[in-house]
Amino acid sequence: MKRKSVALVMTVACVLVFALAYAQDDIQSLEHDVFADRQRPAATFSHELHADTAEIDCLECHHAYENGENVWDDSMETDCTSCHKLDADGKTMSAMKAFHTNCKGCHTKEGKGPVTCGECHPRKE
Ligand code: HEC
Ligand code: HEC
Ligand code: HEC
Ligand code: HEC
Repeated sequence: MKRKSVALVMTVACVLVFALAYAQDDIQSLEHDVFADRQRPAATFSHELHADTAEIDCLECHHAYENGENVWDDSMETDCTSCHKLDADGKTMSAMKAFHTNCKGCHTKEGKGPVTCGECHPRKE
């Protein structure tokens, strides 16, 4: 192969790898270890739909509080259950309540997105 076509093949391969990684990232399961004894199938979430398509501000969902102010930036913790555990701890609500307040709270307020149990925790076929 000529050098030019090798470069082209390499470029196409790179683009494909990135596109695949991105597509797989899109819909993610929010299954977390804190829920060891699950009652419902884990909810799924599309980061792309929320952050890019619906253009929701990062700080609507991510936070790090300092003197009551949300100072989160993308170098900080994103895993909700690194702070929100199975049981509430002082002002830090339980993981289930944190997700339900955040997800369901916004869908109810906006009149968009699922609000019933079965829509967010669909039974597996
Ligand atoms: C807007 C989406 C949404 C709705 C509506 C919703 N949940 Fe959840 N729920 C979540 C997310 C996200 C989590 C955390 C990830 C996970 O474990 O599924 C969660 C976690 C849970 C958990 C803890 C994990 C487990 O299975 O033990 C239970 C129990 C639960 N939800 C029950 C319910 C019930 C009952 C309803 C209806 C009254 C409901 N949820 C409605 C999104 C939702
Ligand atoms: C509607 C809520 C929501 C919005 C808006 C949002 N995120 Fe997220 N983000 C989440 C959830 C939920 C997770 C998964 C957390 C978990 O598993 O505990 C996550 C995970 C992440 C991760 C970890 C890698 C990954 O994709 O799982 C990064 C990095 C991240 N978010 C950055 C951002 C940035 C930057 C923005 C703004 C451009 C943003 N998020 C907007 C809810 C949101
Ligand atoms: C670095 C630790 C930390 C991480 C990571 C974190 N939280 Fe929180 N969260 C807190 C603390 C602490 C509070 C209580 C703040 C207060 O009342 O002063 C809180 C409060 C909340 C509240 C109550 C309303 C509000 O916004 O203050 C919700 C809902 C919530 N968190 C959901 C989430 C979700 C969803 C994620 C993941 C996308 C997440 N949290 C990640 C520490 C964290
Ligand atoms: C700040 C607002 C906001 C928060 C927080 C939020 N959502 Fe949403 N969600 C939306 C909106 C708006 C839509 C409708 C987007 C559209 O169809 O244009 C939506 C749609 C959805 C849908 C339907 C997707 C589809 O393909 O139709 C699911 C599932 C969902 N959200 C899950 C979640 C989960 C799980 C969380 C919490 C981790 C969450 N959302 C947090 C605003 C929010």
